[in-house]
Amino acid sequence: MTADKIRELVAQMTLEEKAAMCSGADFWHTEAVERLGIPASMVSDGPHGLRKQDQEADHLGVNDSIKAVCFPAGCGTAASFNRDLLRMMGETLGNECQAEGVSVILGPAVNIKRSPLCGRNFEYYSEDPLVASEIAGALIQGVQSKNVGTSIKHFLANNQETRRLSSDSRVDERTLHEIYLAAFEGAVKKAKPWTVMCSYNKINGTYAAQNHQYLTETLREQWGFDGYVMSDWGAVNNRVEDLKAGLDLEMPSSLGANDKLIVGAVLSGELDESVVNAAVEHILNIVFRYEENRDKNAVFDKDKDHETARKVAEETIVLLKNEDVLPLSEKQKVAFIGQYAKVPRYQGGGSSHINSHKITSALEAASGMDNVIYAQGFDDAQDKTDEKLLAEAVEAARSAQVAVVFAGLPDKYESEGFDRKHMAMPDYQNELIEKIAAVQPNTVVVLHNGSPVEMPWADRVKGIVEAYLGGQAVGGAICDILFGRVNPSAKLPETFPIKLEDNPSYLSYIGEGDMVEYREGIFVGYRYYDKKKMDVLFPFGHGLSYTTFEYSNLTVDKEKLKDTDTLRVTVDVTNTGTMAGKEVVQLYVADKKSTVIRPVKELRDFAKVELKPGGTKTVTFTLDKRAFAYYSVKIHDWHVETGEFDILIGKSSRDIVLTKTVTVESTVKLPFVYTTDTTMGDVRKDPRAWKIVQESLAMGMIGGQDDSQSEAASEAISDEMADAGIEYSPLRGPVSFGGHVTMADIQAIVDKLNALDD
Ligand code: BGC
Repeated sequence: MTADKIRELVAQMTLEEKAAMCSGADFWHTEAVERLGIPASMVSDGPHGLRKQDQEADHLGVNDSIKAVCFPAGCGTAASFNRDLLRMMGETLGNECQAEGVSVILGPAVNIKRSPLCGRNFEYYSEDPLVASEIAGALIQGVQSKNVGTSIKHFLANNQETRRLSSDSRVDERTLHEIYLAAFEGAVKKAKPWTVMCSYNKINGTYAAQNHQYLTETLREQWGFDGYVMSDWGAVNNRVEDLKAGLDLEMPSSLGANDKLIVGAVLSGELDESVVNAAVEHILNIVFRYEENRDKNAVFDKDKDHETARKVAEETIVLLKNEDVLPLSEKQKVAFIGQYAKVPRYQGGGSSHINSHKITSALEAASGMDNVIYAQGFDDAQDKTDEKLLAEAVEAARSAQVAVVFAGLPDKYESEGFDRKHMAMPDYQNELIEKIAAVQPNTVVVLHNGSPVEMPWADRVKGIVEAYLGGQAVGGAICDILFGRVNPSAKLPETFPIKLEDNPSYLSYIGEGDMVEYREGIFVGYRYYDKKKMDVLFPFGHGLSYTTFEYSNLTVDKEKLKDTDTLRVTVDVTNTGTMAGKEVVQLYVADKKSTVIRPVKELRDFAKVELKPGGTKTVTFTLDKRAFAYYSVKIHDWHVETGEFDILIGKSSRDIVLTKTVTVESTVKLPFVYTTDTTMGDVRKDPRAWKIVQESLAMGMIGGQDDSQSEAASEAISDEMADAGIEYSPLRGPVSFGGHVTMADIQAIVDKLNALDD
């Protein structure tokens, strides 16, 4: 329906009908207005499968939803670094929504993994905003290609579950832009989600739902968002203020209470009716976008989608360590050990929980293989070592040629609604791995978890496979990887620190009461570990393959460019091994010298290429200003400092294989206002300014060598200290030390400096 037609429709609605349209009709539907032909529209969770609840609705996953297909959770899909794969998964979800009459699927969830402890990390993508927004963008494009909407969530700075309804994320402006907004920005601009879900928390003292700055100025005015903003379920706390801020749809229904407040506010003049009209237009625009593009032929073929889920899972499994133990051969006697081999942990708890129509375990996937034996090893329900299960497992491991331990985190460790308290796996699982490794030199650990864990046994096993939470088809995918039918190609979208205390948010995570200060600033994840030159267990971007890749011929199309230009970068990747495989090529940019504090390097693009043995492909990246920029709080905009930048091509953040240096020239001069406090060093940066100061002040006086200095004093003052004395002396310095200079003289100089042309 055209914008004009929607406006005409809104003009026919009563104030009461419009107010009602601004909140849900029930838990999952928008209001219908039958007399005007406006249908109710259903939304459903999300993000990695369809959780459509027909009756007895609730948002914590307690009541059953329809049988559906559980895809790998966000933690894993991000590890694929494969936009095409995410598009394909999105198309599948979009088709399921068409078949089930769902207009908007509530995802993707892109919040940054500030700490490994966040209870919802399994749903989220990455510690890096580019990965989060690119992966989200691809999923959004896929879903929306089927004329079904998405709801990118939870906007904004919602990075913990503790006190999630009242916590106040205190984040500085630069960090918000470089890290937390950036996770949404690329996806909103490029993929244009139909809706955005605003989060529960406050941002710098204002609830996300009431935040005009982010919901309207940033989202609509700067990023061009044209859909509707809906609240997270229960995130509305002041309906009228929220509406003014740009929150269009309250979910779920307020059962009429807030409709009355809206009507009252309009009648009393507190709220302009045009604000209500705009919100209703935003909502109806999407309601009709879906309604007019219904696919009556769509079928939810669960078995077919299960196979798609398996394909996705194959690319979400990261091979972390492999000392010549994988892939396994079907001729080897292999012991599958651990409860998760039979009952995989494949999804997290809460609103994303899918009622899976079937689940394939690794054991089931290996059921036709005589060489595989099984021992349960542990029982999560007991929460402690079961000596009998342990002994049986050790025996099985001893009798086999290889032991594969399926371990990770139990269900109760990872869920929406609360955060983990520590990063350890249960003791009984760690003990099992240690005991197995002690009797079986060829031990491989397969991990099922949605967020990093500590691995005290890492040095004592030959292989580690991070399966994340791989969805209902995970078992088949794991067997394909273990036995080499599929070559692993995922990489970590987050750092695995050695221990929790290494994480940059450790000192301030979950905050004090509701106050959560993001004290690590922009130094999230590898941005911090790199800067600190810290050892990590597995770095961001790490992931092994059964083949080898070599990189060569790094080229740039210019060595000098302006910040308004684009830079074309190409690199050749060759499969030098014996197995076909896919490689994730990572491009980082490092500002070699900067006057602002910056990370050592930042990921600015990535690509995934598939190569047969011996095959070579050229990967092309195009970088623009943002690749070189930081967010300047002086101009409230992105800014590039003139200077040299390294273009780094890596297999991981800690395995950079090729480098080229380019010079970027800024076309923007940051405003600079001289004051009597400006240092001589800063004045010296502009030779014209420095000349004025020198001439005006008979410069010998400033920091010049004083012949009458005693010998003891000259020993105390090194040349370096004398230089620093000038560098850091404020312009007003000579008033104290120069003898005849007055503050009025200095002010006159300052005025002259400020009068210089740019
Ligand atoms: C969650 C959202 C979810 C909504 C509806 C909320 O509790 O935070 O992610 O989409 O419930 O289930």
